[in-house]
Amino acid sequence: MIARVIGTGSYLPEKVLSNFDLEKMVETNNEWIIARTGIEERRIAADNESTSDMATKAAQRALEMAGVSAEEVDMIVMGTITGDHPWPATACIVQANLGAKNAYAYDVSAACSGFLYALSAASDYLTSGRGKKALVIGAEAMSRIVDWTDRNTCVLFGDGAGAILLEAQEGEFGVLSCHLYSDGNYFDLLYQPGFGTKVPASIAGIEEKLPYLKMQGNEVFKIAVRSLTAVSKEALKANGMTSEDVTWFVPHQANLRILEAVTKRLKLVDEQCFINVNKYGNTSGATIPVALDEINRQGRFNEGDLILMAAFGGGFTWGSSIIRW
Ligand SMILES: CC(C)(COP(=O)(O)OP(=O)(O)OC[C@H]1O[C@@H](n2cnc3c(N)ncnc32)[C@H](O)[C@@H]1OP(=O)(O)O)[C@@H](O)C(=O)NCCC(=O)NCCS
Repeated sequence: MIARVIGTGSYLPEKVLSNFDLEKMVETNNEWIIARTGIEERRIAADNESTSDMATKAAQRALEMAGVSAEEVDMIVMGTITGDHPWPATACIVQANLGAKNAYAYDVSAACSGFLYALSAASDYLTSGRGKKALVIGAEAMSRIVDWTDRNTCVLFGDGAGAILLEAQEGEFGVLSCHLYSDGNYFDLLYQPGFGTKVPASIAGIEEKLPYLKMQGNEVFKIAVRSLTAVSKEALKANGMTSEDVTWFVPHQANLRILEAVTKRLKLVDEQCFINVNKYGNTSGATIPVALDEINRQGRFNEGDLILMAAFGGGFTWGSSIIRW
């Protein structure tokens, strides 16, 4: 049994925030942002649009592509760190929105690696024979946890959602492997200090900007490049493959410089590496499924293509996966 992708979908909010717009908000400029990150613009959710709204639209598009009804879905697992509420799981709200009444649903909190963590859980579930169909979603409203006065972070992130529908099938097409890692020793290099149970909500905390994302960009950069390279190599080795076998490298879209460094270390050529960070910035758990849907809807996947995915994020968490399309 193998978990095969039978549908993809994505949703990006309409509102575009360009680097030039950001120049009016914080002390930055288009040239700096492009040179250091490769990002030109990002999408921002409307005031009345939440993570569950975006995730629902992405999931509906994946179901439509596959011609599968919501009632047929057995499991919904969603990578997100910007859920509608601290709890319950936003995947449950998506389940209700879809009318997927036969599915159990939960969120995975693994920051930018959330989609790959969710993919691994769904693949294990389907290959164990417990269910037939699973929706794997990555959805984030990063704009809601970004400090819009902090130029070190606010230029990097964006909002969006992506989804894939997996089906348990016989054969050799589908998720071939997942390798996942965590290291909580680094949790405070990239995190949201408040308001969880350690630092509960307070007026003083708001003034100290505790409910907003904090990051030590330089440190994260170095560890991300090392980890993404190592875990991608591990995926290739585990499958008896080399870089030349990879049709598509679809990495987490954090920053063009990280992607270039990893691509080079893996000895991949530019044509193998899919990049859309210029258009959407870092949408955390959403970047990989959004990229998969873009490539798929452009008709650029062929049966048998080997897709290497890798992600790194807060936790720290990181991982890789290979899919035979
Ligand atoms: C954030 C990041 C782009 C910063 O680039 P960098 O080359 O490391 O830059 P530095 O942090 O060394 O800062 C260099 C200078 O630019 C300034 N700067 C930071 N943000 C700026 C901005 N938006 N516009 C203009 N200048 C900025 C800094 O204040 C610093 O100025 P100083 O030297 O006067 O103190 C980079 O560290 C990075 O991409 N890190 C990884 C982030 C990431 O992808 N995280 C998510 C992983 S899932």
